[in-house]
Amino acid sequence: MKTQIIPAATPKEVAAAVSVAVEHLRAGEAIALPTETVYGLAADALNADACLKIFEAKERPRFDPLIVHLPGMEWLDRLTSISSRDEVLVRALVEEFWPGPLTIVLPRRAIVPDVVTAGLETVAVRISAHPVFAQIIEAFDGPLAAPSANRFGRISPTTAAHVAAELDGKIPLIVDGGSSSHGLESTIVAVREGAMEILRHGPISAERLAAFGELRAARSKQTPEAPGQLPSHYAPRTPLRLTSDVERIESAERRMGALIFEARDLPGNFCATRVLSLSGDVREAAANLFRYLRELDEANLDLIVAEEIPETGLGRAIMDRLRRAAAR
Ligand code: TXA
Ligand code: MG
Repeated sequence: MKTQIIPAATPKEVAAAVSVAVEHLRAGEAIALPTETVYGLAADALNADACLKIFEAKERPRFDPLIVHLPGMEWLDRLTSISSRDEVLVRALVEEFWPGPLTIVLPRRAIVPDVVTAGLETVAVRISAHPVFAQIIEAFDGPLAAPSANRFGRISPTTAAHVAAELDGKIPLIVDGGSSSHGLESTIVAVREGAMEILRHGPISAERLAAFGELRAARSKQTPEAPGQLPSHYAPRTPLRLTSDVERIESAERRMGALIFEARDLPGNFCATRVLSLSGDVREAAANLFRYLRELDEANLDLIVAEEIPETGLGRAIMDRLRRAAAR
């Protein structure tokens, strides 16, 4: 299959991209679209055959459910059935964080195909704030299932070029809407029994969620509910080691690369360095994380040494991804 990449920067390009994308979606294809978190591989969420194409292209195991993106708030009640106990909390969360990088896991309605939820009785939903995604889903006028547009277990794409590196030849279309502004996948929170459980840390921090209600500890790590929780997710091919002291890492590896947070000179044994934020800004660091991991992974290194950061706010989401990248 030939993969077409179309630009969506100017209003004219966006209008053309919307019509081509909607045509593919209506034909039951899976296509890559920009979102504010990472690029997604989108298909008609109410068409099981279309959703199967997502699993095929990503080589994603069928037990891993998909996130469903909604065209608007009115779709929340069409796809989910919220208990009266959770109603107030869910309304408050969506009012505050949608459109945006918060995914909410709720009891599903029968209209959602089994393949989307991997047979679970819940469905994960969000509304994307990306202007191009928003126009496409509005024109499509239905929910879109869209996991990150990478092959299973690999680093999530934050540019159209990353998607092409992962899925070229496997999907018909990539819409290029520029770099994803957050650069990390959405925060996933399950709402049940009047409380929240964070299933994946992301751009909306635990601290911000805690202002809306009780945060309960997530269930056992042994049987993760979200396979994004698997220890070796987001893995580069190059071994990665996390350390609090990059300067004093001891390793026999010849070619080492460093992923650090603040700019400084490193000893001569590092042959590639990426600084996540020149100004020490954690948001900028998050936005650069996957791009730099990918670049270091392509630099023919024996080892990537990554610097630990304090686990508060967004720092927790960044450390979560780095730990998984280190586990293999
Ligand atoms: O930012 C994002 O969330 C991006 C963009 C494209 O929206 N999407 C994304 O999707 O990261 P994906 O498939 O790579 O990660 C979704 C995670 C998976 O780990 C999946 O297991 C979990 O969400 N998930 C989906 N439905 C679930 C459910 N019903 N219960 C628990 N976890 C669920
Ligand atoms: Mg993913």
